[in-house]
Amino acid sequence: MPIYMNNGATTWPKPECVARAMYDFLVDRGANVARGSASERDLHTLDLVFSCREELTDLLGGWRRDPRCAVFTSSVTESLNIVLKGFLRPGMTVLTSGMEHNAVLRPLRRLEERGVRLEVAPCDSEGFLPPEVFAEALDRARPDLAVLSHASNVCGTVQDLPALAALCRGAGTPLVADCAQTAGLIPLDAQGLGLAALCFTGHKGLMGPQGIGGVMFEPEFAKKVDWFVEGGTGSFSHLELHPEAMPDKFEAGTPNTPGIAGLLAALRWLRETGMDNVRAKEEATGAALLEGLLSLSGVVLYGRRRMDGRLPVFAVNFEGVDNGLLAGRLFEEFGVETRPGLHCAPLAHRTLGSWPEGSLRISPGYFTTESDVEITIRALRSILG
Ligand SMILES: Cc1ncc(COP(=O)(O)O)c(C=O)c1O
Repeated sequence: MPIYMNNGATTWPKPECVARAMYDFLVDRGANVARGSASERDLHTLDLVFSCREELTDLLGGWRRDPRCAVFTSSVTESLNIVLKGFLRPGMTVLTSGMEHNAVLRPLRRLEERGVRLEVAPCDSEGFLPPEVFAEALDRARPDLAVLSHASNVCGTVQDLPALAALCRGAGTPLVADCAQTAGLIPLDAQGLGLAALCFTGHKGLMGPQGIGGVMFEPEFAKKVDWFVEGGTGSFSHLELHPEAMPDKFEAGTPNTPGIAGLLAALRWLRETGMDNVRAKEEATGAALLEGLLSLSGVVLYGRRRMDGRLPVFAVNFEGVDNGLLAGRLFEEFGVETRPGLHCAPLAHRTLGSWPEGSLRISPGYFTTESDVEITIRALRSILG
């Protein structure tokens, strides 16, 4: 069994119920959604998809707890593309931060080529966006939209989303949050925060499978977002034009129902286990790992040197050591899986001072044991000499 320290990329293993739910769906049920004859299997799929929207709406604080605001996509990358490319038009201004993942940055750079003005609010050397810096940027840029990641996938720094969202509300700027790293770990309330859209992915903290994600939309904002995939929705079949009703507007084509079955099982597992318990266990593991990492000679740790205000996602380098070769040796000699390099976030590495070499990312998860942490630290000590 490998020592899995790459939960920042995807959580693994998943709770057993996730794979079982997907297997059961494919083997015993497997009907397409809203594209059948109201057989028992058809109704089961309808119920499954609706129940998953309901769970997401509860967990993420969907607007007026209306499950129609929860749109399924294949990933948070697709979610962000839908929102950003569907809302921003030439001549508009968008504000983001210096800690974004390429899932935000690349669509924005593309939009910039098409005439959207892009402004980047700088973060400090720990990857934190001070609300006063953001306030100044909002004031200066007067953006039509702001998009921010809630927590860094590189170094785990968590932004003060309530303060940043309050500033956006005050400025009348719709805010889109990339909650890829925080959904399922930090309580979220899309309506309470006044978010225009909360983008999430199913396969990280939500503990679901890969290939399923979504957007929790504020309904009035959703009306202003154009859609770019049109086709069958299993609804309004008499119309030759794509329907604008939610969530059908953004869900053309057969959805990933096995993925939704897995995600629903994962969300129920999360509710039964308790997000607080998941977070507390991850914090304890993270604290032990952080202490171990800081005890190693020549370590450079990016981001916070304490557990508050961060997730257990650690970015490190060791003086004179190539992080790619180190990751290779950790796995080959000790079975420890990590992720070296730039983590799809070149701008974040520039902010943190780890450009262009990147860093070694070590990210334990809910199923990481004390012994996994000890082995990882021992392995690093042994390789570093
Ligand atoms: C902050 C952040 N945004 C976006 C993504 C992209 O996630 P996905 O590949 O599931 O679309 C990730 C994944 O690492 C992430 O951490």
